[in-house]
Amino acid sequence: MTDKPNYQPGLEGIIAGESAICKVRADVDKLIYRGYDTSVLALEAEFEETAHLLIEGRLPNKVELSAFKKELNTHRIIEKPTIELIRALPNTMHPMDVLRCGVSACAGWDPDVGDNSHDANVRKAIRLTSKIPVILGVRQAHLEKRNPVYPDPTLNHAGNLLWLLNGKKPDEDAIRIMNTSLTLYAEHGFNASTFTARVCASTLSDLHSAITGAIGTLKGPLHGGANEAAMAMLEVIGDASKAEAWVMEALAQKKKIMGFGHRVYRTCDSRSVTLKAEGLKLAQKRGDTKYSEIAEVVEQTMKREKNLFTNVDFPCAWVYKLLGLPVDTYTPIFAAARVTGWSAHVIEQHDNNRLIRPSEDYTGPMEMEYKKPE
Ligand SMILES: CC(C)(COP(=O)(O)OP(=O)(O)OC[C@H]1O[C@@H](n2cnc3c(N)ncnc32)[C@H](O)[C@@H]1OP(=O)(O)O)[C@@H](O)C(=O)NCCC(=O)NCCS
Repeated sequence: MTDKPNYQPGLEGIIAGESAICKVRADVDKLIYRGYDTSVLALEAEFEETAHLLIEGRLPNKVELSAFKKELNTHRIIEKPTIELIRALPNTMHPMDVLRCGVSACAGWDPDVGDNSHDANVRKAIRLTSKIPVILGVRQAHLEKRNPVYPDPTLNHAGNLLWLLNGKKPDEDAIRIMNTSLTLYAEHGFNASTFTARVCASTLSDLHSAITGAIGTLKGPLHGGANEAAMAMLEVIGDASKAEAWVMEALAQKKKIMGFGHRVYRTCDSRSVTLKAEGLKLAQKRGDTKYSEIAEVVEQTMKREKNLFTNVDFPCAWVYKLLGLPVDTYTPIFAAARVTGWSAHVIEQHDNNRLIRPSEDYTGPMEMEYKKPE
């Protein structure tokens, strides 16, 4: 807290713009996309419906949904030089860095790249939503020294993402829970990466630039990177019997436990509740409860010791592990969903633009006297 007017560290609680896209209703523990409860969308709608809702501004009817899916299928392709670039980047590069380069490269072949009109932005958003799983799939296949698989038009977006990443046809359960996680990850108001995208767009820069910047922001462990950091923690703990002691020791060392706490939610992240419930059903069905059991002890210990709750990144970690996904693809998968929310914000910003340029509270010296170097 501070007594300086109009200033809060980290902009906490500061309203930085108007938006009709998403509302975090911390008062009733609900997340709303354009008026719709996400815990319903996540279980009952396909991710494509949510993508349409965010990018086009409304839920599609049957005909529109079918056309939207067809369009997504058409664009699940990236140009040869982009494929070569993705393969040429050092194997040590994190997939988020590769994705950042890949999205940036896609701009070069997008016919609407410099057009910031509403319709052009919608077209670009749909194309990028299609292309991001392809970029991730090409990279993963390259790292695993196998040929990339071709997108499958009979699979939905969640199914294609799993197919492209794992190179194995996903079953219905895997597709369903991936669909749920993508829907829950799709949008979240003025979070750090979305704000990055809006600042970039407000200079009248283009959608690809805004999304590239947003990917860089999402990578950090205080934001999207938390799902990977949470899984790394669960792996280090290794067994439910060791979880309580591990958390107590980490807290004694004043460490932050990844996947807990939130800037806006104060008692509960409804996304976490929805994903955990679905994840537990899948873990039981598959007889693979090792990490969900460790997670439960960590969650209970954090509740007891710090009264802190899990955010969506915590169940996401062990759910993606259940799906056999490599840990360093977790944040890129988050980006594959959030591109729809980022795009909705870029479109909204461009449709009613004012340059975002806040002021700083200068704390440096004044009236220093210049002297020539001696
Ligand atoms: C999300 C997050 C950045 C929000 O941060 P914030 O609003 O700036 O809150 P702060 O970091 O100031 O935390 C407030 C207090 O709660 C504690 N806290 C918050 N999250 C914590 C965590 N994950 N583990 C341990 N303590 C935590 C802080 O240490 C601080 O305690 P203090 O007042 O005794 O110093 C923060 O909760 C965090 O770092 N979480 C872990 C990363 C994560 O999961 N990110 C994904 C978000 S969806």
